[in-house]
Order: sequence, then C-alpha cells, then structure tokens
Amino acid sequence: MSPFVADPVYLNGRFVPLAEATISPLDRGFLFGDGVYEVIPVYSRRPFRLGEHLHRLQSSLDGIRLANPLPREEWETVVQRLALDAPFEDQGIYLQVSRGADVKRDHIFPQGIPPTVFAFSSPLVTPAAAIRETGVCAITAEDNRWLRCDLKTVSLLANVLLRQAADDQGCAEALLIRDGFLQEGAASSIFVVRNGILLAPPKSHLMLPGITYDVVLELADRHGQPYEIREIPLAELQAADEIWMTSSTKEVLPITRLDGRPVGTGAPGPVGRQMWQWYQHFKTTVMRNG
Ligand code: PDD
Repeated sequence: MSPFVADPVYLNGRFVPLAEATISPLDRGFLFGDGVYEVIPVYSRRPFRLGEHLHRLQSSLDGIRLANPLPREEWETVVQRLALDAPFEDQGIYLQVSRGADVKRDHIFPQGIPPTVFAFSSPLVTPAAAIRETGVCAITAEDNRWLRCDLKTVSLLANVLLRQAADDQGCAEALLIRDGFLQEGAASSIFVVRNGILLAPPKSHLMLPGITYDVVLELADRHGQPYEIREIPLAELQAADEIWMTSSTKEVLPITRLDGRPVGTGAPGPVGRQMWQWYQHFKTTVMRNG
C-alpha cells in the first residue's frame, strides 16, 4: 500500500484499490486541465469546514460550467467513508471532478459524457514545530496566471512553475504580485502584519477564496485582533513586520525571509504565534463539539 494515498480510493461511484483506479487518456482533465478540485483537512477523522469546501467546489463547477455530479449528501458520504477507512487520523481529502472523456480531442464541451469523479485520502502533514519556530523563506514573483484565480481548477501549470521557482531557491512559497499588489501564494493565502494590524488582500477573481483565510479572519474578529482587508502594495509587503502563509495543509505558517531579506526581525512574530494557537484551539474545539 502507498504510504501517501490510502486504499481504497473513490472513482466514479465506487471505492476501488488505487492500482485498479484507471481512467481514459482522453479524459479532459488530462488533455485540457478541464476540471476542478478541493483539498479538505480531516482532524481525528472528522472533516474540517466540509460545508465550506463543498460550497467552494460548487462555485468552481459553476465557474467552468460543469454540473455537479453528486448531491451534497453523497459528497458528504464519500468524504466520511474515506476519512473513516484511511489508516491515518489526520488527513487531507482530495476531490476532483473533470469534464470526462470524449471519443475525440475537441476543445468544445462534449455532450452526454459523464464527468470523472475522483477522491482519495492522504496523511495530513502539517508543518513541524521546528519549521514553525524558524519560519520559512519565500520569493516574490509576477503573477502570470489567468484572470479566474477564484476557481479551484486543476489547470495548475502556472502555480506549479511558480512554486518550483521558489523551491529552486530553497524557499517554500512564491508570493504573487499583480500590477504591484500582493494577491496570494502559488498554493496558499498570504497575510501581512504591520504595526500590530493584520492585513489581508481582498477576495476577487484574482485569488482563491481560501477556507483558512476565512477562519483566520473569523478568529481575528472573535479575539479582537485588529485587521484590514485591503490591497497590499509590494512595498508594504517588503516592509512587513510579519508575513504568514495559510492553507488547509499548512494551517498558519510564518514566512521569515522574503527575497533573501529578513521579514521584520527575521523570526516568527507574536501575532502569527497567537493566530496559530487560536487556530489549534479552534480546530480542536470544533472537532470535539462537531
Ligand atoms: N491549495 N490559494 C491557492 C492558490 C491555493 O492553492 C490554496 C490551497 C489556497 C488556500 O486555500 P485553503 O485555505 O482553502 O486551503 C490559496 C491547496 C491546499 C492545494 O492546492 O493543495
């Protein structure tokens, strides 16, 4: 069994061993990147913010004009079953829907072809304490993605190249700048702290509406942490006291070096530490009380 993907996986209505989960090479997810996905964190076998993830999946499907193949209860059943059967407690559950496999390659939507629905569970590996203690480094990069970054599509080539550019420099993330303003990371949302105020870029078609982004702002509200949702110019990012990346798999992770220079003191800052603690507390409370 793969240590990275739990068996069985879900494919088109059935739970099957990974080795038997095969699709056509004519699948439009493969040929065109014509599909959408979600990554849902599961703690102690309980999905976190499942409703919000399924809601975003629906928005992504609407955005690419693909009918949702499963009613919400069935998505819930698939996720619950994967979460219960996997050999690990904390998981990342991946869901993908592509526009299916036609008998030919044609950009135009095929008619009467069932979508391909794929889901599997992996172990959720959140950043280790040692990494959170030092923080990670990031680079800035020109955001060269398309104009519908609010859709969680599997067409991730730009994100892949941007994140690889960061990795090539030994860094964890590329912070994407469009027209001089911070949008998000190649695979995460980005927050900035200046003078004790948390800053978040506003949601738009140029960034993914992160589920963790929403949780962070809810926690800021709940605990009286001042914040502003507004455009963040590159110069302000470079002058930040703290920068964090957030996502379902990274949770809240400090970025302590940007383009080779220290962020603030060069060590994780107090606001980020506090937010990480609020996040841990919140997630365990939700898991306990449902
Ligand atoms: N990525 N922005 C982008 C471009 C992302 O790919 C992600 C997450 C986020 C954070 O969203 P959320 O808080 O809902 O995880 C923001 C996932 C984890 C991935 O592609 O693996």
